[in-house]
Amino acid sequence: MAVVTHKGNAFYNCFACGAAGNAIDFVMNFHKMEFREALKYLGQRCGIELRSMRDEGPKDPATSKESLRKAMASAAKFYQRCLQEEKLGATARAHLDERMLNAQTRDDFQLGVAPEGWDHLARHIEKLIQHSANSADKVARESFEALGLIRSGQRGPIDGFRNRLLFPIHDELGNVIAFGARRLDPNDEPKYLNSPDSPLFSKGRTLYALHRARRSIIDSKHAIVVEGYVDAVALHQAGVTNVIATLGTALTKDHAKALQRMAERITVVFDPDNAGERAADRAVETFLSVPVDVRIATLPDGLDADELLQRPNGLNDFNAALEAGEEALSWMVRRFKANLESVEGMSGKQQRLQELLRKLGELGFRGVEPIRKSFVLTALSKLTGVPVRTLEQSMPQARVELKINEPTPAPVVQEPAKSPRQKARRMAEENLLAAIMADPNSAQVRVAAGKDGLLPISEAFSPEHFQRTDLRQIWSLLVMRLESGNSFHVQDVQAECQEPSLKALCGELFHIGSQRNEHIDPSEAVRNAAADFDKFLHDAIATSDTPTVMNPMDANARLEQLRQGGHNPAAIARFKRNIPRTETATPTSADHF
Ligand code: UTP
Ligand code: MN
Repeated sequence: MAVVTHKGNAFYNCFACGAAGNAIDFVMNFHKMEFREALKYLGQRCGIELRSMRDEGPKDPATSKESLRKAMASAAKFYQRCLQEEKLGATARAHLDERMLNAQTRDDFQLGVAPEGWDHLARHIEKLIQHSANSADKVARESFEALGLIRSGQRGPIDGFRNRLLFPIHDELGNVIAFGARRLDPNDEPKYLNSPDSPLFSKGRTLYALHRARRSIIDSKHAIVVEGYVDAVALHQAGVTNVIATLGTALTKDHAKALQRMAERITVVFDPDNAGERAADRAVETFLSVPVDVRIATLPDGLDADELLQRPNGLNDFNAALEAGEEALSWMVRRFKANLESVEGMSGKQQRLQELLRKLGELGFRGVEPIRKSFVLTALSKLTGVPVRTLEQSMPQARVELKINEPTPAPVVQEPAKSPRQKARRMAEENLLAAIMADPNSAQVRVAAGKDGLLPISEAFSPEHFQRTDLRQIWSLLVMRLESGNSFHVQDVQAECQEPSLKALCGELFHIGSQRNEHIDPSEAVRNAAADFDKFLHDAIATSDTPTVMNPMDANARLEQLRQGGHNPAAIARFKRNIPRTETATPTSADHF
């Protein structure tokens, strides 16, 4: 991979996978982030806060995302420190010891404790407020209140979490955005308490441990979803690092969509006792609505992952359960079949099958895109022994799309074999763009353009002169830049490319050109390449290499029109270059136009 940063460039090219572009492209490609997310990530790295137009206007600085983020971070640090404290952290440490979560893991996941008592954090915050009173970076009580970390009590602020083990919940960038808090006293209810939703945190969208699992999920293309914080942490400690946990909810579509960018497969692990039907339904729903394979793995003996890992050979058992994971759909159908066998008589069976189909309908079968739909129907048919057509007809909401007026596909044009001359011509096209791309600011030169003498390069060639479509597209982008007369760099051209492959081509052209330029002045290189390419345009007619755009008569009329319309000279010059230069017979191919 090349990262090019000299001469004002700022782009990368990966020669292995063909990815290319600027820093934002890199983050999107490598971390599989969306554009906005990538912007946020980069902004954070260089201390630029991303604000949308909607965020503008008067606003309470104490509840801005920036302040909330800082408040969360300082609370997380405080709780982490409490875990280290001789007395305050004793119960929590004993709990962690018992669960065999080691020091490294506690550190990795920034585990902490909200000590027993009413106002440990509240008093800490009061101190922070006092200390920051005269600084530009004032700490405000409201930030902590908005996050549910403290609230006002009878005799002043009190802590939101008391006597609980704290699992900080991070966003994908690793910022703490919420806490999952487990009781340390078995008499407290509920067992787990989560931070309330806030501008930083939305429970149904967040996945616990994603910031630590992301790379591993991308590399293995597989995400394992468990139900508990402890399960996720224990699995990471055991070396299974592509694991995340939902926050007490089933897997949602939002979760699945986020994961689908990183993984081809999601395995939902649940203990069969409590999760049962609902989690399975969600898994099927996910499978139907998001293009990802969803599997369901059930752990033995009704254990959760953490309990299983405590047993000798636990990791092997866990991996075996993963291996034995079953496709969500087939899992559902298998349960249905067991159910079916218990029913006597045909009509009972038929009723069950219709129930299953109705359920699939409810879970969104109708919206499934056609290819996936046909996979699903085939799978169902295999599992149930009912022919695909019958299933399709019985599916209450699945309608067979009518194929009306479907456009016939465009015929595939067979490219004729290339003559040596054509190959040379294509090389010349490429060389010209490579020379320009290597040093765009040296391309503000006049070049020899046949009979027309010297022309600025932007006027010497027109898109039609380029036979390769991708080069033609890049030329069009270059012309606009060159005509503007402003300096520009590879990444500016890349930014205007829609296709990733075009971005990559920009980078490749840069490299080709740069290598040649080692021994030659860049402007000289551009002039040479232009002269070389121009040769091919000269006798274009004779060899009919260039598809002629218009016949000369029409062209002259059009040219007159352009002149009278006061069009810019560059456009006129470009147009002129496109008229066949020889006055001899109009090429026969032009008759068709
Ligand atoms: P479980 O009750 O299965 O607990 O809840 P667990 O993860 O095995 O907990 P340990 O091992 O006893 O510590 C699974 C998940 O459901 C959510 C939490 O996210 C928890 O991790 N939950 C559970 C709640 O949100 N509230 C509760 O009261 C209980
Ligand atoms: Mn557990």
